[in-house]
Amino acid sequence: MNKKTDKLIADLTISLEQKTKLIKDVHAEMDRGLAGEKSSIKMLPAYIWPPTGNERGEYLAIDFGGTNLRVMLVKLEGQGKIVMPKIRVQTIGPDILSGTGEQLCGFIADAVIDFMQEAGMDMTLEKEFGFTFSFPMDQRSITSAFLISWTKGFCTSGMVGENVVALVQAAFAKRGFPQIRVGAIANDTVGTLAHGLYENSATSLGVIIGTGTNAAYVEKTSAITKFPALQSKTDTMMINMEWGGFDRIGRTVYDEMIDELSSNPGEQFLEKMVAARYLGDLVSLIINDLIESGEFSPAMRPIKEDAFFDAREVSLIAKDESMALTDMEQLLENHGSGGVRFDDRALVKKVAKLILDRSANIAATMMMAVVKKIDFSLERVHAIAIDGSLYEKAYGYKEEVRRAIEELAGEKKNQVKPFVCKDGSGVGVAVVAATVASAK
Ligand code: BGC
Repeated sequence: MNKKTDKLIADLTISLEQKTKLIKDVHAEMDRGLAGEKSSIKMLPAYIWPPTGNERGEYLAIDFGGTNLRVMLVKLEGQGKIVMPKIRVQTIGPDILSGTGEQLCGFIADAVIDFMQEAGMDMTLEKEFGFTFSFPMDQRSITSAFLISWTKGFCTSGMVGENVVALVQAAFAKRGFPQIRVGAIANDTVGTLAHGLYENSATSLGVIIGTGTNAAYVEKTSAITKFPALQSKTDTMMINMEWGGFDRIGRTVYDEMIDELSSNPGEQFLEKMVAARYLGDLVSLIINDLIESGEFSPAMRPIKEDAFFDAREVSLIAKDESMALTDMEQLLENHGSGGVRFDDRALVKKVAKLILDRSANIAATMMMAVVKKIDFSLERVHAIAIDGSLYEKAYGYKEEVRRAIEELAGEKKNQVKPFVCKDGSGVGVAVVAATVASAK
């Protein structure tokens, strides 16, 4: 490999020393966020506290904020047991991403109404549902949430600064169902944390590594100094960190290009290095740059912007363990590069691996930073509930996260236990709704 590739490897690999420094910087930003000072980690109180695991009941839950809208019926049976008798998944199309707030809220209301009718539910009764809304929001209670900004390519008009709960309820009312109401709204990380805690009280973090990335944990209200009044209400509260905004992390020229191409330039720097939405674009941009520098054979053609790889394809490339790397041939041909040489395929694979591993290493460092903020010396076990397609499905991702956690936790490595919390966010908001209901 030549100098350019060597530099790429150096730029995209994060050393243990860098990770240790990052953890310190994350702690400082978390403190600033809790104090209400300027911080790239927002630290948003979620107005919900940990469930006991004994909450019961049947809840309707809506999960909005990634690639799909999911409506589900969730049964909490107590003692940490959850069943999900019915789920409906609908893709969120580009028309919704860049349409109006009214269209978006109407899309949600229509999906819920259809689901309820299909399930034979009585549409005349009062019905409260749990609402996972996976964006940064400023909450003042469990049923009010003002959208701070869009992320993950959403740019729907008329919603930033507005109370999302009121907008969604207006959509139900407009359709003749004012009695269907939001009983609790929560970020997906908060849902995942609640879900994790319901099943396992050692859960310290709820993490999403999917289209976007973020985490939530439980904080003492005495430490949330920006809202002193919270202390009189409850001892602890979940915090939606919004770690995707963390900006104390070295970026490459490719990261800067991704930022410029995005719908929210200047924001979500960490998310753009970690989350699935951006990984395929990163790999494609790097490959194009290496083509321009002559690192590939002429058979390798620049990838057009409308045909950039997606994260699923990046994972497929990394997964090609065949001797001659022939599994990825068809995929490359689909992107305009048929009949490339073995060396070309090896370099494509190298880039895909570097980007996936960088993502996993940053995510693991962030998780360790939060765990260490809670318990610096890792005195107790910390389970980490993780939801999201990238963590769950990308080739080698979980293993790399585990490796990085072990590197950072050293001899205390068994105190940190990440686990897949499938449908964590959607199911979790049912737990949130139940926790609220049992406190009434
Ligand atoms: C949003 C977070 C969300 C995360 C994962 C980010 O883009 O800002 O609120 O939790 O994506 O869905």
